[in-house]
Amino acid sequence: MKTSNSYTYFFVTTMAIISALLLSILKVNLQGRQEFNKVLDTRKNVLKTVGVLKPGMSDSEVEELYTSKFTKQAVLGSDGTEREYYIYGLPERPEGYVLPVSGKGVWSTINGFIALEPDRSTIKGISFYDHAETPGLGGEIEKDFFARRFVGKKIFKDGELVSVTIAKSKLQEPSEYAVDGLSGASLTTGAINRFLRDDLTDYLPMLSDGDKKTSWR
Ligand SMILES: Cc1cc2nc3c(=O)[nH]c(=O)nc-3n(C[C@H](O)[C@H](O)[C@H](O)COP(=O)(O)O)c2cc1C
Repeated sequence: MKTSNSYTYFFVTTMAIISALLLSILKVNLQGRQEFNKVLDTRKNVLKTVGVLKPGMSDSEVEELYTSKFTKQAVLGSDGTEREYYIYGLPERPEGYVLPVSGKGVWSTINGFIALEPDRSTIKGISFYDHAETPGLGGEIEKDFFARRFVGKKIFKDGELVSVTIAKSKLQEPSEYAVDGLSGASLTTGAINRFLRDDLTDYLPMLSDGDKKTSWR
């Protein structure tokens, strides 16, 4: 059977329009979902950093805990830009602070959070996420065993911001201000040392409000 040219053109054009429409509807829907997932992932990492993210928590449980326990705040950083952070617990009686940190690693930008106790010096938790460092090498930074090394370390020494340093390998002697390194990942951990120190310096206007801090160099 022979179909006319005009029918073929009509059919092809109609199919093209329908496909384009379906694709754009799908894209708009997926974009919304992707943005939602990104926000949810950030919130999960905020919860994880203070140690309240439990395995198997549903999205709505994450949302509920985040909304009831965290307040977003902003401070004018010492670099002149507005810096956001989260208060954990009641703003008038905080149980901790969560500060976003980020910087370039070997292969990617590394995002993370550092949580501090109310003294704003003792580390409550740390997490690194959303990076493309090599699994098994730099990628080990996202593991819980690595995060646990930071808990209880301090970022202020005699009122001066010293940050926390990841050593190149195992520490020669115990330190309140340093953690053991990861083998095969010294470039990634060296990058973290730099951006942690820089970001914490930018947060000094809110960090220096804490107890026991008088000066810093
Ligand atoms: C394919 C490839 C991927 C690598 N990825 C990383 C990485 O993500 N982070 C890192 O610090 N080093 C990475 N390295 C290793 C560095 O080149 C370097 O050998 C290492 O940082 C030295 O670390 P170490 O002093 O702890 O042994 C990678 C090397 C190769 C060949």
